Amino acid sequence: MWGGRFAEGPSSIMREINASIPFDKALWRQDIRASKAHVAMLGAQGIVAPEDAATISAGLDQVAAEYAQNGVPENWDLEDIHMTTESRLAELVGPVAGRLHTARSRNDQVATDFRLWVRDAVDEALAGLNALQKALVQRAGEHVNTILPGFTHLQTAQPVVLGHHLLAYYEMAARDVSRFADARARMNQCPLGSAALAGTGFPIDRFATASALDFDRPTDNSLDSVSDRDFALDYLMAAAQCALHLSRLAEEFIIWASQPFGFVTLPDSLSTGSSIMPQKKNPDAAELVRGHAGRIIGALTSLMITMKGLPLAYSKDMQDDKPPVFEAAGLLTLCLAAMTGMVEGAYFRQDRMRAAAELGYATATDLADWLVRQANIPFREAHHITGAAVKLAERKGVALDQLSLEELQAIDSRIDERVFPALSVEASVASRASHGGTAPVQVAQRVAQARAALGLVG
Ligand code: ARG
Repeated sequence: MWGGRFAEGPSSIMREINASIPFDKALWRQDIRASKAHVAMLGAQGIVAPEDAATISAGLDQVAAEYAQNGVPENWDLEDIHMTTESRLAELVGPVAGRLHTARSRNDQVATDFRLWVRDAVDEALAGLNALQKALVQRAGEHVNTILPGFTHLQTAQPVVLGHHLLAYYEMAARDVSRFADARARMNQCPLGSAALAGTGFPIDRFATASALDFDRPTDNSLDSVSDRDFALDYLMAAAQCALHLSRLAEEFIIWASQPFGFVTLPDSLSTGSSIMPQKKNPDAAELVRGHAGRIIGALTSLMITMKGLPLAYSKDMQDDKPPVFEAAGLLTLCLAAMTGMVEGAYFRQDRMRAAAELGYATATDLADWLVRQANIPFREAHHITGAAVKLAERKGVALDQLSLEELQAIDSRIDERVFPALSVEASVASRASHGGTAPVQVAQRVAQARAALGLVG
């Protein structure tokens, strides 16, 4: 493509280090689409004769058909998807193909193609998140009254309902949706027409190409346009945070599926067995989601490090922008699908959850709250009295509500028999009816709001 300037061709090392076709061939659909928008605009503006523009456009369709049928050929001499397509176009339509690159550079071309690709990846993430949210809300609705221990420090803290726990992940997913939507809105400007770095002297219509490619408008600074990869970083930031959430949900399932917990039986379809231990059913999919989150976060770090300190405008370092984004996007789609399947197919063992909620003095706070409310004792003092009751119950190896009234009154005479109903796990969750609390009435209300937000009927 630049034989005019060079006396000899590149060495084999140069060809190898320079070639991005092994990975950027994934951009072929975007490359064809952007080229068609560009050449249509060149034709409409009279920069290229309309019949030449039509020939080029039809040739691009043919190249696309070949790619769809046979894949994209990988020839290192052609470096990247842009030159591969242009070279095949020239074979098909002859020298007129050379008019396609008028008023364009690979710098604005790749910036445009990659933006289109990332925008699709955002849409795919949004679709995956929507499916996950629906699954979470569906299961939460089934378990508004299912009681399990809530933990802090992974130590039994207070009883909560399973619907509340699942909706916590719905809230995380909702923030992920908002982050992806923000990223999409911000990236939706078209760099095409920025050319190499300074714009072009040809009378192009950047608003026309922007709108043909479903962008809101063209970008406003050609230097920034060819060197900006914020759109990819925004995507990776949202993807990393989403993967981080998925890894936390995965970890809950891993813990819950372990025999000592036994809170959940994972679907067979998302578990594996052991080649040596016949009894095993391993939560591999959840473990891989936990693991993949690390790789997705790594992709964000990788691109940030590639971009840091680069002067304006394009530098070849930026060719390394694509592998981390491609990898992260593939992994994120898988992780979202795996966790959606796990939420949909999990069998929640309500008996085990309930039994665990009864252990570990999960209603100790309820005793303290009762002392505050019924006996008008300051909370700090009530906390102390309750601590003594827990100590006694622990020594006797019984639950709090299995202590006799006499035993409780020996600790504090202001306790009377009305305390016992307050110590049940049902009373405990029902009492936490503050906005956003775990009381079944609150959770049911939140389920209804979430269903409405997701457009689920009934
Ligand atoms: N393959 C290149 C990339 O992905 C295309 C842009 C090349 N531009 C250049 N001036 N060499 O970044």
